[in-house]
Parts: sequence; C-alpha cells; structure tokens
Amino acid sequence: DQIMPLSGKKVMVTAGPTREELDPVRYFTNHSSGKMGYAIASAAKKLGAEVTLVTGPTSLEIPSGVQVERVISAKEMFDKTISHYRDQDIVIKCAAVADYTPVTVHSNKFKKKNDTWTIELKKTDDILKALGERKEHQILVGFAAETENLEDYTKDKLVRKNLDMVVGNDVSKEGSGFGSDTNEIIMIKKDGSIRPLPILTKEQAANEILEEVMEMMKR
Ligand code: PMT
Repeated sequence: DQIMPLSGKKVMVTAGPTREELDPVRYFTNHSSGKMGYAIASAAKKLGAEVTLVTGPTSLEIPSGVQVERVISAKEMFDKTISHYRDQDIVIKCAAVADYTPVTVHSNKFKKKNDTWTIELKKTDDILKALGERKEHQILVGFAAETENLEDYTKDKLVRKNLDMVVGNDVSKEGSGFGSDTNEIIMIKKDGSIRPLPILTKEQAANEILEEVMEMMKR
C-alpha cells in the first residue's frame, strides 16, 4: 500500500450555509455554496485521511469516500460537530454558520398583515469557540469571511477562539469568497506567521491549507 501524508489521520471539515427557520415556508441563510469546504474534504481524502464532512444544505456531490453528516440549522451543525470532535486529529471549519436565529419559529405560515414585520433574532452558539475551549490534541483551523480590515479581524479570531490557524478571505473581492470557483485567502498561524496567497482555484487553496496543517503537525 502506498503511504499517504494523511494516512491514519481523521479530518473533519464543515461546509456550506445553515438555514434558520422562521415558519414552515421561510428561512434565513447566506451565500455559501459549500465549494470551499467540499474542496478541502476532497483534498484531505486524496492525501489519505479518513474524512467526515459536516455539511449544511448545498447542491454539491459528496466527494467519494468521504463520510457525510447532513445538517440544516446552526444548532444541528453545533451538535454534530461537537459529537465527532474528540476523535479528530484535524478540524477545519469552513461552514458559514448563521450568527443569529429567529427567537420565535412559527408553527404555521406567518400570514401577511401589516406593512412592516419586525423579526427578533438571538445569537447562535459559536461552534468554533466551543471547539477551541474543548481542544485537546486537535489542530483547529477556522475561517474568517470579512469585507474590511481582513488581517486584523482574522488575527482577532485566531486568539479569541484558541485556533491553530485561521484562513481569512475578503469576500467583497471579485472571484473570492462565496459561490465562486476561486478564492483569495490569507493564512495566519498561532506562531504569528502570515501567508497571503494569490487568487487560486478552491482546489488549489484547499491543498495550500492542508500543506500548512501538515507542516504544523510535524512540530
Ligand atoms: O461555500 P463557498 O461558496 O465555497 O464559500 C466559501 C466561504 C466564503 C463560505 C468560506 O471560505 C468562509 O469564509 N467560511 C467562513 C464563513 C463565516 O461564517 O465566517 P465568519 O467570519 O462569520 O465566522 C468565523 C468562523 O466562525 C468560521 O470558521 C465559522 O465556521 C465559525 N462560526 C461562526 C458562527 C457560529 N455560530 N459558529 C461558528 O463556528
């Protein structure tokens, strides 16, 4: 058998958006297509890892040989991610998890009445922060999707959430972030190193991220 760089390693990747239900016909979501996360799952599999992909609703095909956990809401993503956490060697949180969810979920379709409709939202639990708090041997990688102050906001997430690396992407740039086939990322590690990359396909970006992770594992 060929020995692969991630043979015997367990990698969990989260991907896609979450959906926060408001009533039986309406929900809040975001523009994540799942492409970046699925590319990481696929690349990790090709490097020999045992991969678990926790995914929100997307229209993508599951990469072959990858174990999948399908979730809808931020709450479900929290529960599934935490339940698989202990076993993992590497966790990469690429999902675009809703930060807020409706306080009230109507059991019947909300009927049209007034000219305005005010909806109250409450914070969801921060999955990445919870993983950071429970971290044992795992290498924990987060993402930061920003539209301004990319480097500062990305660094802030690294420290606040006890991460080993954070991948920042400026989602306001053309050809970067949500939905596109390409991404322009910056990798910031706990040791303070900062590596900006040019615009790459999401497959290439996935391999660059895993290269950095494997580098960290050697130490
Ligand atoms: O799916 P694609 O169309 O390919 O697009 C890729 C992407 C833009 C979604 C991806 O590259 C990306 O940036 N993912 C993170 C999006 C995001 O939610 O960023 P954030 O800065 O809001 O969150 C920071 C981190 O906290 C993320 O790792 C997120 O998974 C995590 N988080 C956020 C909220 C929450 N309740 N729990 C979390 O764990």
